[in-house]
Amino acid sequence: MAKKIRASVPAKVILFGEHFVVYGKRALATAINRRLTVVVSDREGDGYHVKIDNIPTFGLELDISVGARKAYPYKDYDSATKAVAYVKESIEYLEERYGLSGGGVEIEIKSEIPLSAGLGSSAATCVATIAALKAYFGLSGDLEAIRNDAHQVELTVQGAASPIDTAISTYGGYVLVDRNEVKRLPLAGLDLIVGTIGSISLSMATEKASEIGLKTKRVVEEVKKRKENFNTVFGYIFDAADEITAHAIEAIEADDLVNFGTLMYMNHGLLDAIGVVPRRLSELVKVSQALGALGAKVTGAGGLDEMGGVGSVLVLPNESGARIKTALDIAGALVMEVKTGECGLKIEAGF
Ligand code: MEV
Repeated sequence: MAKKIRASVPAKVILFGEHFVVYGKRALATAINRRLTVVVSDREGDGYHVKIDNIPTFGLELDISVGARKAYPYKDYDSATKAVAYVKESIEYLEERYGLSGGGVEIEIKSEIPLSAGLGSSAATCVATIAALKAYFGLSGDLEAIRNDAHQVELTVQGAASPIDTAISTYGGYVLVDRNEVKRLPLAGLDLIVGTIGSISLSMATEKASEIGLKTKRVVEEVKKRKENFNTVFGYIFDAADEITAHAIEAIEADDLVNFGTLMYMNHGLLDAIGVVPRRLSELVKVSQALGALGAKVTGAGGLDEMGGVGSVLVLPNESGARIKTALDIAGALVMEVKTGECGLKIEAGF
């Protein structure tokens, strides 16, 4: 019988502690109700045929040939997509780590997660691709192993990555990363607004788009440079961020959304201090604040003005949520109402 496996994983938002988590500080992330799905099925012949569909802003199709890794057929827009880099690395990792060989599979990726937006599209791509391929080739579906595999792939592609994104894509719910340890927390769901500024536009030159495709890597490097220049100051900023995450967990446990929101603004200020808040994202936070949001902040890697200010903000609305959504829309953001605490990796066979 023909084999077919479907793996789906959630997008993530980092509520507190992005960037600081790369240096071992605490960060809290949660899964939201936007998903990425990978379907792996039989295909005649060797190699991996990959179809990427529905990712907001583009779609593409390509072949990844067995034994032709060095001459991988990147061309034109293909090379500009980080999704491709993560799929390709996931395949290579599985071949090396678990001895998969030959391919002969079709990999179809469909996503509701905007790319390069700080919403975990890379981690989602890695976790779902790895989980689907492992299930297809009869390897263990142990979640911890899948999370670790996906984290290794992120590390290879990005150079530096904390375990937070891959943990959320795998487990869903809420995850606290504390001194690089992943802990799952049973916290209540929240209704939030996400505002995303642009993604890769099809009119953008391939080289430029390619840089944005690996934006997280670039932004993490910029933070490292600034830290090296102001090491002592960064020590204080990092400690403050660490405390903010701890207080935020207390606030959500006590259902104290006012304090939770205030801590979001504080976290945002620290992200600005380390240089990851471009003007366009700053404006989204400020307009939300002016309209009475309980909290607002950049989420994920943030961005750089020179990279078009691409990225996302997270808003904890008060009763003026509708006005905040309109304002974000007018400011040019893709606006999504999301629920937190959504479920993690789901695998189905033979559907
Ligand atoms: C990216 O979603 C979050 C960062 O903290 C990087 C990481 O944790 O690997 C910026």
